[in-house]
Amino acid sequence: MAIPKHVGIIMDGNGRWAELRGLPRSEGHKRGVERVSEITAAACGVGVKVLSLYAFSIENWSRPAPEISVLMKLLETFLVNDVNLFMEKSIKFRVIGNRDKLPSKIRTMIGHVENMTLDNSGLLLQCALSYGGRDEIVRAVKKTLSSGIAPDEITEDAVNSHMDTSGVPDPDLIIRTSGEQRLSNFLLWQSAYAEFLFTNTLWPDFTREEFLEALYQFQIRDRRFGKVGSGVTKCS
Ligand code: FPP
Repeated sequence: MAIPKHVGIIMDGNGRWAELRGLPRSEGHKRGVERVSEITAAACGVGVKVLSLYAFSIENWSRPAPEISVLMKLLETFLVNDVNLFMEKSIKFRVIGNRDKLPSKIRTMIGHVENMTLDNSGLLLQCALSYGGRDEIVRAVKKTLSSGIAPDEITEDAVNSHMDTSGVPDPDLIIRTSGEQRLSNFLLWQSAYAEFLFTNTLWPDFTREEFLEALYQFQIRDRRFGKVGSGVTKCS
């Protein structure tokens, strides 16, 4: 059965995981990064082509400064440590989101890892950082208009070609951990026909086995893309 080409994950519940254990929220984030490496390796192993991870939303900039600083430090460590995994498994890394808001040191590190992995031919790992779906759409529309196209000639394809995810197939499956059932501004444009899977598991507890189970659940869904399915009786 078909493995989804593109899987998106809203990694939620780090804070609750830590609070349940009487630990600082930063411990939940640390454990969350470990899951990122594990799930990335699992996605490679089963032949997923694109994995998009929601790591830091535009709205997350309004969290307390110490928490933002922990997340940025973890990101730096991740970028340094996981390059080995990327090269070993031929993973291409790229960031989607509004980079202008990121600290310049992180922007430089991201550019470095993107360049190093540019010619890798395995999984594309898209890390959504400082990312908001509405922000991405507005930036794409601005770019489309400044490309010289007349407003009444704007098409879906034209806008799509200016999205951060340009050239990448839309997500087939979006997983959200922690029991919340919403999209929270993640891949709004791209998720038009995505299947959604919500699990109560908090992100730091989301294992390779649960990821594989999610892929199986996807495989038994009936995707019709607005058409009628096979085996449907006639209307008249
Ligand atoms: C949501 O948990 C998670 C985040 C805001 C950040 C996700 C970040 C990581 C998994 C680690 C960093 C990622 C990379 C790629 C280095 P929450 O804090 O909203 O949890 P809560 O809803 O329980 O409070």
